[in-house]
Amino acid sequence: MKTGHEKIQKQISEEILRYGEPVLRSDAFRAAYHQTHHLKGNLADHILNVTIEGVNLCRRLQKKKIDVDERTVVLACLCHDLGMVGRDEKYESRLKSWKQHPEESLKQAKEICPDLDEKASLAIITHMWPIAGKAPRTREGRIVLAADKYASMIDWISFVKGKPWQQEIKEAVRKGGWMD
Ligand SMILES: [Fe+2]
Ligand SMILES: [Fe+2]
Repeated sequence: MKTGHEKIQKQISEEILRYGEPVLRSDAFRAAYHQTHHLKGNLADHILNVTIEGVNLCRRLQKKKIDVDERTVVLACLCHDLGMVGRDEKYESRLKSWKQHPEESLKQAKEICPDLDEKASLAIITHMWPIAGKAPRTREGRIVLAADKYASMIDWISFVKGKPWQQEIKEAVRKGGWMD
């Protein structure tokens, strides 16, 4: 018998896999496993950490009766840093990569998901505020911003692997077994 927490964790994992499938299957996302990111991590794991935090935040807001579009948050989180794949070849400097990758991430996101909605597009473009771009003005954009900042802080502090259920979904995505 699953506890309430375990049920929620299972739902979060399933939503990431269901909404995010086209991104998780994409060449850009698979290439993110070979891109270093934040000290010793890889970009794909960072993207998944952000997505897990993003859905967690959605759930916490929904508990307070605040309506948020989880599909938009999942897709925006999964695509927010795809523009960082091939960072050293694409951008002249670290500073330029920070400023320019949101646009590049959006380009990749639209190639993978041609029906990407406006809210998801805006959330991708505004996720680097205040380092680059404008501040997000939608709920979903603010969630992606907060999830990215939180996950990045954890990366920089210690690169903790996350709770066992979080490691489980990251491992399942990495192996691609769920694609069968
Ligand atoms: Fe970013
Ligand atoms: Fe990020």
